[in-house]
Amino acid sequence: MTARPGAPHHPADHHPMVHPLVTMTRRAIWQQRLLQRPLHIRLVMSLKHPVDLPQPRSSVRGTRRSPVLGRTEGGGRAEGGSAPPRLSPRTSRPGRYGRPLIQSVWRLARASDVGRDRITDTGVMPELQFVGKEFVWNHHLSVPYRPLNPDVEASVGETSLTGNLVVHGDNLHALKALLPGYAGKIDVVYIDPPYNTGKESWRYNDNVKSPMAQEWLDGNPVNKDDMLRHDKWLALMYPRLKLFRELLSEEGVIFASIDDNELYHLRLALDEIFGETNWVGTIVWRNVTDNNPTNIAIEHEYVICFAKEKSQIATVWRTSESAIKERLVAVQQELIDSHEDDDSLRAAYRVWFKENKWELGTLDRYKFIDRDGIFTGSQSVHNPGREGYRYNVLHPVTHLPTRQPLFGYRFPETTMTRLMDEGRLLFGEDENKIVELKVYASEFEDKLPSVITFDGRLGTSELKALFPEQDKVFDNPKPTQLIKQLIAAASKSDSIVLDSFAGSGTTAHAVLALNHEDGGQRKFILIEGEDYAYDLTAERVRRVIKGVPNHRDSSLAAGLGGEFTFCELGEALDLDSMLTGDRLPDFETLGGWLFHTATGLPADRSLFDESAGYLGEASGQHIWLRYQPDLNFLMSPNSALTMSAAQEYGSLREGRHLVFATSKFVTHQKLAALSVEFSPLPFSLYHVSTE
Ligand SMILES: C[S@@+](CC[C@H](N)C(=O)[O-])C[C@H]1O[C@@H](n2cnc3c(N)ncnc32)[C@H](O)[C@@H]1O
Repeated sequence: MTARPGAPHHPADHHPMVHPLVTMTRRAIWQQRLLQRPLHIRLVMSLKHPVDLPQPRSSVRGTRRSPVLGRTEGGGRAEGGSAPPRLSPRTSRPGRYGRPLIQSVWRLARASDVGRDRITDTGVMPELQFVGKEFVWNHHLSVPYRPLNPDVEASVGETSLTGNLVVHGDNLHALKALLPGYAGKIDVVYIDPPYNTGKESWRYNDNVKSPMAQEWLDGNPVNKDDMLRHDKWLALMYPRLKLFRELLSEEGVIFASIDDNELYHLRLALDEIFGETNWVGTIVWRNVTDNNPTNIAIEHEYVICFAKEKSQIATVWRTSESAIKERLVAVQQELIDSHEDDDSLRAAYRVWFKENKWELGTLDRYKFIDRDGIFTGSQSVHNPGREGYRYNVLHPVTHLPTRQPLFGYRFPETTMTRLMDEGRLLFGEDENKIVELKVYASEFEDKLPSVITFDGRLGTSELKALFPEQDKVFDNPKPTQLIKQLIAAASKSDSIVLDSFAGSGTTAHAVLALNHEDGGQRKFILIEGEDYAYDLTAERVRRVIKGVPNHRDSSLAAGLGGEFTFCELGEALDLDSMLTGDRLPDFETLGGWLFHTATGLPADRSLFDESAGYLGEASGQHIWLRYQPDLNFLMSPNSALTMSAAQEYGSLREGRHLVFATSKFVTHQKLAALSVEFSPLPFSLYHVSTE
């Protein structure tokens, strides 16, 4: 068996899906390497991974006594074969008030944690410890692979596993199911996980093999009184963050929405998994106004951004509108300088606008000009979703009250008076047009700033407009604009965008809207665990694609177009059921999985040739699979690798070969002479057990 190309040299970076044989070999190699390392490094590593775990102490508030810290449980390796983090003596104590601990340790080998094969002395680094970390550290490795089963009825257009996807299922399983096809291919991950506010009723329900985690399943939902709520939240996130990193392309980035409840834990978890040098920035989204009496009124949340490899991402994120904005600003200056009276200025811009409108993309709404520049009208003075301020705004010419917005104004009358005095309000020809705010092209946000301000309730009113027949659709959906802004900055026109906490499907909406605006071909993959995946998550996408009659936005009324495939997670590919022959996966499913485990690369199913047993090529090695989902075949000599089969592979394709087969009837030496390697399928055990 050959290691995948560019295989890392540290167990912490084992590829999650590496074939058990490879894992064993790498484990041995790792142990050998550890022994070869200079003593000071070995000392540091053994300090970090002490053999004996200290005994647990009961919780500060006396109730919890976590089996996680017990000797027998923690003494072995984590599932999946990598060295688990061991709790050093300082971490044996649960965090005060149940908080995960952050401790400083010498992390000479730190760089290897993030997939680099270099040892650097980075000094004292903070390390996050939480109850259960040693169990979830490599939990993603032990999660079984499950195929994605398309549901034709629930999809729009032709079903395809390479197009837009909406997947129903637990995201840990779904992310693992995506690996064979998407490892290293996702450019943007956006996630909006439960914030752990204590009010959302999120449940910790990963099937982690430890008595402690099993006990946690009885403690659901996780609420504010739960002393381990931060530990449980980290236990949810840690394995998923590891899979995101596997799925991201080298230029890929992850955006994670979060608030103060878990901001710091998430940041530290990302620091560990992605490497702190890959932090790109943290955005503060000012989304509410809190007028309740309090100490500090919290009026914002965050979006943290990390790159898989910061040196690989563009040094400047420019949106597709940057060049258009620059052009408008240049034109306005030229026109203002060359036209002294306002009427001729307006006439000149009308002519220019008519000639160039089709090149302005989303900025084609900037139809007006005055001495301050080119501008458009914005409804941001209208209150979204629920009743705002009510007062009369008089039309400057007719002096009659202008028509009021549906939910009144967003600002008090004094603010509106000031805006009017500053000439910032845009009126129609008479009082029948609702007043708008003048927004100048020069103010157009074409960068991703660290502070974004807009009303969080926009998400709810957008969703309501897409589901007019429902009173309450979903709690706190994100505004499409927020996610669109992130994707616009960080994606290419053909990027794949993944959201594994999909909720109401805002991310798919944002991708479709952005493609509609700039002609891009971006794809989306959504994952939602709840049953509303079908009639909310996917239904929103259906409506955005097909259109919502009478929607106030004409493009949404007509529909933005597109397709997607709705998938359920299939039965797990597990050895037991394969061995008994109870459930045999089809060639594509098993082939995709084996190709990925052997190479670490995504399989390209269009290259599969089932009749020849061909799966594809990686680093000059062709991968073959002698398999039919039929027990008679698997028990027959046809499923074995023979001398003539090995010769045939060599004659069909030039290069080295790796063959998955139930058994082999030829020696290793003879295969080596033909540049053929053999890897046994689990069915070989079936042969043994039935002999
Ligand atoms: C805060 S909401 C996301 C809202 C979304 N951004 C929107 O705009 O509508 C989080 C979503 O993640 C889902 N979720 C939580 N844990 C999950 C898991 N383990 N697997 C799949 N989905 C999960 C929840 O069901 C919920 O719909």
